[in-house]
Amino acid sequence: MTTELDQMQTDMLSAIDAASGLDALEAVRIHGLGKTGTITGLLKSLGAMTPEERLTTGPRIHALREAVTSAIAARKAALERAELDARLARETIDMTLPAEPALIGSIHPVSQVMDELAEIFADMGFAVATGPEIETDWYNFTALNIPETHPARAMHDTFYLAGEHETPMVLRTHTSPVQIRAMQASGGDKPVYIIAPGRTYRSDSDATHTPMFHQVEGLVIDKGITLGHLKWTLETFLKAFFERDDIVLRLRPSYFPFTEPSAEVDVGYTLQNGKRVIGGSDHWMEVLGSGMVHRKVIEAGGYDPDQWQGFAFGCGIDRLAMLKYGMDDLRAFFDGDLRWMKHYGFSCLDVPTLSGGVGA
Ligand code: PHE
Repeated sequence: MTTELDQMQTDMLSAIDAASGLDALEAVRIHGLGKTGTITGLLKSLGAMTPEERLTTGPRIHALREAVTSAIAARKAALERAELDARLARETIDMTLPAEPALIGSIHPVSQVMDELAEIFADMGFAVATGPEIETDWYNFTALNIPETHPARAMHDTFYLAGEHETPMVLRTHTSPVQIRAMQASGGDKPVYIIAPGRTYRSDSDATHTPMFHQVEGLVIDKGITLGHLKWTLETFLKAFFERDDIVLRLRPSYFPFTEPSAEVDVGYTLQNGKRVIGGSDHWMEVLGSGMVHRKVIEAGGYDPDQWQGFAFGCGIDRLAMLKYGMDDLRAFFDGDLRWMKHYGFSCLDVPTLSGGVGA
């Protein structure tokens, strides 16, 4: 009996070794350990043996079952590993192959314009800063010299967050709170040169207003900063953005609580076949708000206004995109219509660079 069992073990182990695939291995397992398998049969025969026989043969049968079970498990693991290796080898992707244009998404014009802005301003030494879209009313208003009783609070059609908060919370109505955050982050003793593009919210909706829209804030804090620096910066920015040298700006006196003096900036355009073309000075269109940062705002940001001055500007990004790329309905920006994206979207492989023309 023992030699028979030895022989059986040798045969089964070599069959397991020889199993060339998971199916073959399973067949071997069923043959030995299945319901009617040989080893199962041997285990069943234990009941009919005499106690003496059982004492010697029983452990031997159990050892056989153990040996076969663990050999099957080991072989199974090896076969699975080999199969995975083969699959990995088979399924390699050649990253150097050109991508399939039909399978790549396109860049939304707003994202494209944000990238262009970052590119243009990085070239002038500006960093990109960000702030939260859910703001305290202190950052959105108070620190920007808009006290509680100020009519400008009502001007902004603000979305307030429902519920009790330690301090009232709003969806930021402009990117200007990032001015305060950027100054605070710089610690009150270093120049600040940042732009802050992002989402802003006002309760307003028609062909030229959406409740969510995009702005870019610009902020410079340094020593000896004048209105001249502001004008040069805006001119340089708009020339690079519209990729034209004949950009003419007009600064009109205006009012913002957080700048003094304040100026609204118009850019000149001409009409060609009924279309607005930026450049020249036949007609004027307002593009942004700006001014010299108010002393109180410099203070709120943790800077000494007797030593530091600066300018700030805020500009609607959606508006810029519409002007540059000739789109006429703002609402289409946020409809998620793929046909519109196909028409106006940008290839994700075509990154804006100053050398190539930012909008190329
Ligand atoms: N925050 C202003 C707005 O949303 C724009 C602005 C920014 C004006 C910075 C002056 C300086 O209308």
